[in-house]
This record gives sequence, C-alpha cells and structure tokens, in this order.
Amino acid sequence: MNTQRVLVTGCAGFIGSTLSERLLGEGCEVIGIDCFTSNYSRWIKERNLQHLRHHPRFTFHEKNILHVNWAPLLRGVDYVFHLAALPGVRTSWGTHFQEYVDHNILATQNLLEALLDTQVQKVVYASSSSVYGGMTGPADEERLLKPLSPYGVTKLSGEQLCLLYGHHHHIPIASMRYFTVFGPRQRPDMAFHLFIKRILEGQPLLIYGDGGQTRDFTFISDCVDANMAAMQSPHHGEVFNIGGVSHLSVLEVVRMIEKATGKHANVVWLPEVPGDPKHTYADIGKARNLLSYNPQFDVEKGLRLQIDDVKKLYNL
Ligand code: NAD
Ligand code: UGA
Repeated sequence: MNTQRVLVTGCAGFIGSTLSERLLGEGCEVIGIDCFTSNYSRWIKERNLQHLRHHPRFTFHEKNILHVNWAPLLRGVDYVFHLAALPGVRTSWGTHFQEYVDHNILATQNLLEALLDTQVQKVVYASSSSVYGGMTGPADEERLLKPLSPYGVTKLSGEQLCLLYGHHHHIPIASMRYFTVFGPRQRPDMAFHLFIKRILEGQPLLIYGDGGQTRDFTFISDCVDANMAAMQSPHHGEVFNIGGVSHLSVLEVVRMIEKATGKHANVVWLPEVPGDPKHTYADIGKARNLLSYNPQFDVEKGLRLQIDDVKKLYNL
C-alpha cells in the first residue's frame, strides 16, 4: 500500500502534535503547518514538536495558513486535519475577537478554497463543544446550537463553512466537536494544566464561580483515536461529538489533583467568566455507532499522565 500523505494544520499545538505523532506511528507521511501564534509560549510548542522534527516522514512549514501558498503543500495529499485555530473561550471578547475571526474563520475558508483543486479523501475539522452553549444533560448532535462565547461563534462558523464547502464542492468532511481535552501537552491556559502547576508550586489557583461547573473531560489519546477513525470512515458530511469517560465538576478535579500529588490547593475564588458554559455533557452515541469510538481514559487515569508531563515541563 502507498504511504498516505497527511496535512496537519496547527501541528505544534496540544492536539495537533499528538495527532501528528500517531499518524507517523501508523506509517503516514505528515506535512505539518504552524505559525506559532502567541496564545502561549513558543518554547512549549517547540517542545511539542521536538520528536516530530527529526522524523524522516515529517516535514514542517512555519507558515500562517491565512497567507500560505497552498498548491505545493497540498500536492499529493490524501487527508487533511484542520486543527489550527485560536482556542481560548474566555479570552475571545473585546478587541481579541479580530484574531479569532482571522485564525478560526478566514483561515478555514482559505484552506477550503485551496482544497477545491485537490482530490483529498477526507478533511477532518476540529470543532468544539462551545458551538452548543450550555447544556444540562447529554447533548446529541441535533441539539440547538447557541454559542455563549465569541470563540464558540467562530468555531461554529468554521464548522458551517466546512459543511457548506463539503456539500457544494463534494469535499468529504467530518467535523469533530471535541469536549474539553486534557492530558500531556494540554495548553498552559487550560484548567488542568494551571491547577497541577500551581498546586505543585504551592501557588494559589483560581476557580471561576463556585467550582460546581462540570465538563465532559476527554483524554488526548481518546481524542486522537476519534480523529483516526474519522479519517478512515466512509461517512462524509457528518458532525460527531467527541466526549470522554468522566463528567466532573472543576472542584472535584482540584480534589483529585490534591490526592494524586499529596499537596494542598490554595484556592482563590473569582466570579464566573462570561462565555463559560455551566455544564457540558456529550452524547457520544453517534461516534460510537459510526466510528466505533470507545474512550478509555477517565480523569483519574489520564490525570496521572498529565501530572508527570507538567512536572517534566517545569522541572517540578
Ligand atoms: P493549540 O493552541 O495548542 O493548537 C493550535 C495551533 O494552531 C497552535 O500551535 C497555533 O500556533 C496554530 N495556529 C493557529 N492559527 C494558525 C494559523 N493561522 N496558521 C498556522 N497555525 C496556526 O490548541 P489545541 O488545544 O491543540 O486545539 C486544537 C484545535 O482543537 C483548535 O481548533 C481548537 O479550537 C479545537 N478544540 C480544542 C479543544 C481542547 O480542549 N483543547 C476542545 C475543542 C476544540
Ligand atoms: C476547552 C478548550 O480550552 C477550548 O479550546 C475548547 O473549545 C473547549 O474546551 C470545548 O470543549 O469546546 P474549557 O472547557 O473552558 O475550554 O476548558 P478549561 O480551560 O480547561 O476550563 C474548564 C473549566 O475550568 C471552566 O469552567 C473554567 O471556568 C474553569 N477554570 C479554568 C477555572 O475555574 N480556573 C482556571 O484557572 C481555568
């Protein structure tokens, strides 16, 4: 069988770098693109890339996909994973919004236009639970979409663009609505990363609201499994919820980190932040049925691996 050629946008990020490693492990050739946006430190993204950079089947292009010359990058590409985006929920208000529009909407449309001239077999788009807004019980893909944050609006626009181009131009697309992903390499602005680092350092951590907000936490390797399944799936034009095994409150997570590290958390309580849903909860029945998605890692199991990773990252 010919080696599959796969393009990954956002390959230096948390999910993109982990997915790229899996693709290489499966024998694919990976063309990675990333422009090192300033949402967090470049040295962390460089660390994410360090194993990839020396791999003989990996090529890296430090490019902004808003301005890239696509033709040479897309030549012979079989599959595309589009993960590049500006991801934070709570920072998407105010003047930052322009950047969210650029990276999440315009960049997506730019990629889709370039794909019109290609024969790609599947485009997998990294969508988000934030397209729903809040939910009280498990939400399936038919649920009303009512984002609570400007970020959620841009991710929904990106998803709609993918579905639109897919439909009108016969581009095979899958849109994956990830629910709060955690594990090694998690972005440093995300809750688990901040909580583990601050507890290990003996520094105060911040909880927004009363800590009773819950998330459907998805372990990174489960998220990668779902992406791999979507790549190979015969289903086109579908949207999938990608949730995890554990549905917990933020305060429960802090208590689990205290237990796992043997250290006490000093909590500073702050008001709720606009844009944050109170609860997220994925009905993953569709992904189970059509992709044989079967998440394996609960928070307790995944947390241990993330604690080890944070210790190594900061020499703690
Ligand atoms: P990340 O910030 O770690 O990775 C995104 C990468 O994309 C970064 O390295 C950034 O430099 C790059 N990038 C952004 N805009 C670019 C551009 N115009 N050109 C080239 N590179 C660009 O974020 P992540 O947590 O790995 O998220 C990956 C994707 O998954 C995003 O699309 C995000 O919206 C989505 N998502 C993430 C989560 C989560 O819990 N982490 C949940 C739902 C959806
Ligand atoms: C995460 C990702 O960051 C988004 O990119 C993604 O789109 C989204 O999941 C998704 O599921 O679609 P979020 O759920 O806000 O967003 O993830 P965290 O940053 O890990 O926050 C989880 C919870 O912890 C939130 O309720 C937040 O308010 C709370 N939190 C976070 C704190 O109380 N304190 C902190 O210091 C950080």
